[in-house]
Amino acid sequence: MHVLVTGGAGFIGSHLVAYHLEQGDRVSVVDNLSTGSLHNIEPFLANPAFQFYQADILVWDRLKEVVSQAERIYHMAAIVGVKKVLEDPRAVMATNIAAMERVFRAVAEVRPDAQVIIASSSEVYGFNTRSGFSESDEIVLRSGARLRWCYAVTKLADEFLAYSFMYKSGIRVVIARIFNTIGPRQSGKYGMVVPTFVHQAVNNLPLTIYGDGLQTRSFCDVRDTVVALAILASSPAANGEIVNVGNDQEISILDLAMLVSTRAGSSSPLEFLSYKEAYGMEIDEITHRRPILDKLHELTGFEAKWLLPETLDNLIALERGLERA
Ligand SMILES: NC(=O)c1ccc[n+]([C@@H]2O[C@H](COP(=O)([O-])OP(=O)(O)OC[C@H]3O[C@@H](n4cnc5c(N)ncnc54)[C@H](O)[C@@H]3O)[C@@H](O)[C@H]2O)c1
Repeated sequence: MHVLVTGGAGFIGSHLVAYHLEQGDRVSVVDNLSTGSLHNIEPFLANPAFQFYQADILVWDRLKEVVSQAERIYHMAAIVGVKKVLEDPRAVMATNIAAMERVFRAVAEVRPDAQVIIASSSEVYGFNTRSGFSESDEIVLRSGARLRWCYAVTKLADEFLAYSFMYKSGIRVVIARIFNTIGPRQSGKYGMVVPTFVHQAVNNLPLTIYGDGLQTRSFCDVRDTVVALAILASSPAANGEIVNVGNDQEISILDLAMLVSTRAGSSSPLEFLSYKEAYGMEIDEITHRRPILDKLHELTGFEAKWLLPETLDNLIALERGLERA
């Protein structure tokens, strides 16, 4: 099979590449390296089954040519992370929606039989106060003055773009609402909590907790995430469906900080920052973000293999240079 991964030099994308090359597939990647890096795909560059194009999907004139070769397309390219979103919401709106639209137009024109998987996000559930989120839940977003939500709006727009192309052009699409994902090659630069805590703990720096730390999250190892995405892509029953992808084990950020510290044998103190201190402005915090995974289980039988302490041990060893990503 020939697979195209947009954003394949990024965190999740590079693990999709590794997964499909291991399956014996041919893999092409288009990435402008805005947050992704050559380092992430370095192990694949010499593989004749791998092709990398450094290009911006928004303007690249060879997009159709590459799309035309692909039997399966994972659209992962996007601007991600609360810090990035607050830094330049205009770029987030433009990239996340326009890139998706351009990919779908190319698929409709030159490869309408391709199986497309798009990366939506748990952020689309918005300011919903439920303790667990199910695909049929209401979406609760806040008004435009709260810039934090513009990423969620782009991901919701992407879901509707997918449905529009499905409806008008008959394209096969699975919409994966991905929850917090962690693992090797995730950068801490854009506000992601686990790589930040691991770096701080290993270097005996204060572990910075935003708010009171009682907010909870559910973390899925990326090596599980890519298996779930691949099974969804090959399940005919998932076609046209919105499906939560993640791990439903929940932990508070305070407990996470203590767990990382313990596993790293760190002497780091805990430091509490207000959201204003952390982001330079007040932001709406989501108290709980846990996926309800019944639909994923029904469609795929998928069960996560990685436990949080195992992933943390792996990340701590990588941070210390004891293992290679
Ligand atoms: N990591 C998570 O926890 C998580 C959770 C929910 C959803 N997602 C979604 O999964 C996808 C991948 O996220 P990630 O965590 O791997 O982020 P990432 O930033 O590591 O990957 C995104 C990649 O897209 C590339 N890119 C951005 N704009 C581009 C453009 N115009 N043209 C070409 N390439 C471009 C970046 O260089 C990067 O390599 C994103 O769509 C994200 O919204 C991620």
